[in-house]
Amino acid sequence: MRFNRHNDRTIEDFGEQWTKYSDNEGYYGSLELLSDILSPFLKLEEIKGCRVADIGSGTGRIVNMLLEAGADHIIAVEPSAAFEVLCLNIQRRERVTCLKITGDKLPAYGDLDYVISVGVLHHIPDPRPVVDAAFKALRPGGHFFVWLYGKEGNRLYLALLKPLRVLTKRLPHPILASLVEVIYWPLVLYIKFCHRAPLPLRGYMLSILERMSPEKRRLIIYDQLNPSYAKFYTKQEAEKLLLDAKFQNVRLHHRHGYSWTVIGTKPLFE
Ligand SMILES: C[S@@+](CC[C@H](N)C(=O)[O-])C[C@H]1O[C@@H](n2cnc3c(N)ncnc32)[C@H](O)[C@@H]1O
Repeated sequence: MRFNRHNDRTIEDFGEQWTKYSDNEGYYGSLELLSDILSPFLKLEEIKGCRVADIGSGTGRIVNMLLEAGADHIIAVEPSAAFEVLCLNIQRRERVTCLKITGDKLPAYGDLDYVISVGVLHHIPDPRPVVDAAFKALRPGGHFFVWLYGKEGNRLYLALLKPLRVLTKRLPHPILASLVEVIYWPLVLYIKFCHRAPLPLRGYMLSILERMSPEKRRLIIYDQLNPSYAKFYTKQEAEKLLLDAKFQNVRLHHRHGYSWTVIGTKPLFE
């Protein structure tokens, strides 16, 4: 029960967040960023013609990227009030089925080539039912691709973030948005220093954050401070998430030295 309450609150938080920050403009919503997220396990060409589910679609950023990459059909799952934003933002409605459900309720299609979940499972206190649903929805030989916050490489960041989040996850939107403004300018300075020194999170700052528009950098700060629940996964925890659900050939990549990309395959024979 405690876990459900936590997830309900987080879903509410995201409903509000994505209603305030609803667009996916620029690098933030680009095919170039999708390629970076999927690398080194998947190439954009591998998505072409596939049936894919995206769990936790938010404003439809990943859905539109997948459409652009040529996915044949996408099941977009979003349980929060962002569902309305998702439906408005989707570019090719005839190729997308939108479901306002939590990930554990993903129908057991059994014929999907990929299930993708970017930045979602770390906001769910008990993600196992979602991983099980992904397993059932895939065809034998289909792949589950997950991106998670990582613990390794984030020690200093987490020492600052964790105490701050105790307060910020409770703040109403206008106050949190003002705090984001306060953090924004030191962050811009930090990115500049990253060019000169091997500072923590340098890889992420220079490869990803620097390429985002000022508006999207603000959203990313907000996104770190707003949700009620956020877990930072160790490599072992991230691997276990898929192994426990019977995925095979589970592989991990420490993306830009701060997060975990995980991919597993549903066995051909169970
Ligand atoms: C950080 S956002 C990521 C959105 C999108 N994947 C992206 O990368 O732009 C996390 C999303 O997961 C959704 N979410 C939270 N709990 C969920 C659950 N149990 N099942 C499915 N989605 C969930 C939230 O509502 C939110 O939209």
